[in-house]
Amino acid sequence: MNVERTLDEKVRNNRKLIEPRGAQTAPLMLQQPVEDDEIDLLQVVRTLWRGKLWIAFTTLVAILIAGYYVFVAAVPVYTAESYVALDSRQGQVVDFENVISGLSGDQATINTELEVLKSRGLTRKLVNELNLVEDPEFNSRLLEEPGFSLGTLQAWVRGMIAGEQEVAPPPTPEIVLEEVVTAVKEKINVSNIRNSYVFKISVTTEDPEKSAKIANTLADLYIVNQLDVKFDATRKATDWLAERVALLERDLAEAETAVKDFNARTELVSPEALEALNRQAKDTRDRIAILKSNLATQEAQLARLEQAWESKDRAAMAEVAAEIGGDRAPTPTMSDRVFQTRYLQLMNSTKAAVARSRSQIESLSAAVAQIEEQIKMQSQDLVQLEQLTRKAEALRSVYEYFLNRLQETSAQQGIQQADSRVLSEAVIPTVPSAPKKARIFALAAILGMMLGAAFVLLREFTNRTVRTADDLENLTRLPVLGQVPMIPGGKRRGQIEYLAAKPESAGAEAIRNLRTSILYSNVDQPPQVVMLTSSIPGEGKTTLSIALAQSFAGLNKRVLLIEGDMRRQAFKRYFQDQHDGGGLLSVLTGRQSLTEAVQKSGLVGADLLRAEKTSVNAADVFASDRFSELIAEARASYDIVIIDTPPVLVVPDARTIAQVADALVFSVKWDSTEQDQIVDAIRMFESVNIRPTGLVLNMINRKGMKKYGYGGKYGAYARYGAKYYKN
Ligand SMILES: Nc1ncnc2c1ncn2[C@@H]1O[C@H](COP(=O)(O)OP(=O)(O)O)[C@@H](O)[C@H]1O
Ligand SMILES: [Mg+2]
Repeated sequence: MNVERTLDEKVRNNRKLIEPRGAQTAPLMLQQPVEDDEIDLLQVVRTLWRGKLWIAFTTLVAILIAGYYVFVAAVPVYTAESYVALDSRQGQVVDFENVISGLSGDQATINTELEVLKSRGLTRKLVNELNLVEDPEFNSRLLEEPGFSLGTLQAWVRGMIAGEQEVAPPPTPEIVLEEVVTAVKEKINVSNIRNSYVFKISVTTEDPEKSAKIANTLADLYIVNQLDVKFDATRKATDWLAERVALLERDLAEAETAVKDFNARTELVSPEALEALNRQAKDTRDRIAILKSNLATQEAQLARLEQAWESKDRAAMAEVAAEIGGDRAPTPTMSDRVFQTRYLQLMNSTKAAVARSRSQIESLSAAVAQIEEQIKMQSQDLVQLEQLTRKAEALRSVYEYFLNRLQETSAQQGIQQADSRVLSEAVIPTVPSAPKKARIFALAAILGMMLGAAFVLLREFTNRTVRTADDLENLTRLPVLGQVPMIPGGKRRGQIEYLAAKPESAGAEAIRNLRTSILYSNVDQPPQVVMLTSSIPGEGKTTLSIALAQSFAGLNKRVLLIEGDMRRQAFKRYFQDQHDGGGLLSVLTGRQSLTEAVQKSGLVGADLLRAEKTSVNAADVFASDRFSELIAEARASYDIVIIDTPPVLVVPDARTIAQVADALVFSVKWDSTEQDQIVDAIRMFESVNIRPTGLVLNMINRKGMKKYGYGGKYGAYARYGAKYYKN
């Protein structure tokens, strides 16, 4: 109190505290304070904690949406699973060589069988087997045309463009079947269980029984299909073999007939007969040779006989005759006649012998020729017979082989085994496989939480309001003269009454602090004319000016409170006591003196100079010399003059009034006014060479402060501060 008293004396000779910008040495302000690039984890957690209601809200909304989806929108589907095992090792019932060998069971086989299970062909069989074309779940054409769909819209647009409605021709059954096959394939998932020969067929449809039925039917069809393939192959082989056997049989019969016919046609031909003939031919030829040598001898004898005959030499003749004729020869002792006769007889008989030999040779030669001819003929026949026989034999062995194979293969037809078997049949599922309620809810909750958190963080990071005096000082490079909490007591007048009634409340102390800061803002010349302003409406200028007036009055000072906001005239909300006419304008126009125009306020303990309605522009009023004169007059009669002004960013009045003020107190609403607005407003003053004396962070929310984590740092708002105040 003492300090303020002494100050009070100095305040009397007041001069302008607000000086032209050039006189200031310090840089006016930094638009942006040095910012921390690091994201403080604690800060993030705090921000999230502060936004917990938002996060809870988005989480709840997400869960509600998920609930709607799970319980209303989503159609539950059921998955049934059947298992088929591939038998790589198979017991052979009969040790025949198979037409189709069993499956080997390597990876390629597994993949192949997997593809077979997934194949359109098998699915088509399934569709036909279960008549799925009649099932609207797979055949969308059975569903009623929806009132609106992309398709109808497309058709409508096309119709509009073409000018006439195109009518699509009804699809053929084949097209429908293929569509259904595609739809069914989408509901079936076949997979090979790792490192095994087992395939899992899972089917998901809207009906549990249908799922199970399809899964089981597909497994059965697959196995039947495998058998079919084998059976088909065996049957084809059998058919082919049968055909071959029939042909062979015919050929064989022909060949055998040929042999028989040949045998019948020729004399019994045999190698033995041929040999006999050969022997006969040789004998004959031997005989011919003997005959020929005989003939030669006989001819030689005949020649000697004839030679001796012609010589007429009886002795010679007798000698030759004796040599040749033997006892039939004439002897020399015989008479000539007898001798001659006998000699002639001998000669004739020799001639006859020659002739006989010749004819014998001739006939034997003919016989040999005949035999040889016969041999030749017979050996040809024999060759042909051998050929025919060989052919028939060859045919027979081929025929027998084929016949044998045919019999084996036909036997196989009945004993084919599939290479797979159903390992376990699908059971009818009782619980839908989708929607997975727990998972969807968990996901929705997480998603909702993340969305909420993102929203809260985004809001925080884009927040450009001011929450601490430090921030404000960093932003403006101006001192913060006071930090005023939210004053309880209702609105406006209630708050002033509260301050009057509770001088030891936190609010009253804050106003008192502000008062002190203002007085000390210039130690040499404590300000006498103090104006309050701010960027925008609602930052507590009016409330603060009244509270300050009240506080100064509490020092037993003569205080004049001028309502400088002629446009809004908010004083009437604080001072219900009827205003008896007169006020600022009356004084300025000279209708009233200052003393006449002021109104005493018991609540504040100060004189009020209230605004009046005017047709003149408010800014012009404050720019007038009369206003300066009024302030000079007020300086003389009052210790302190407090002027409430309108917001800077809205009207120019404050900048004009500032020209006559000693101190300019700039109010900033806590966590509300945006930094840009504050900076812009201060720039407005700079443009007319005014520098605010300092700022007030007003309407600070104690709880909010704590929430933002400043509670511990800022004395008055810290927990311990509460002990000092009696709210
Ligand atoms: N420190 C404060 N604590 C609580 N409410 C306040 C405070 N300052 C101002 N208010 C309230 O804010 C509203 C606007 O204040 P007002 O003084 O009219 O602002 P301005 O004059 O800047 O437009 C009023 O309802 C007022 O009661
Ligand atoms: Mg106001």
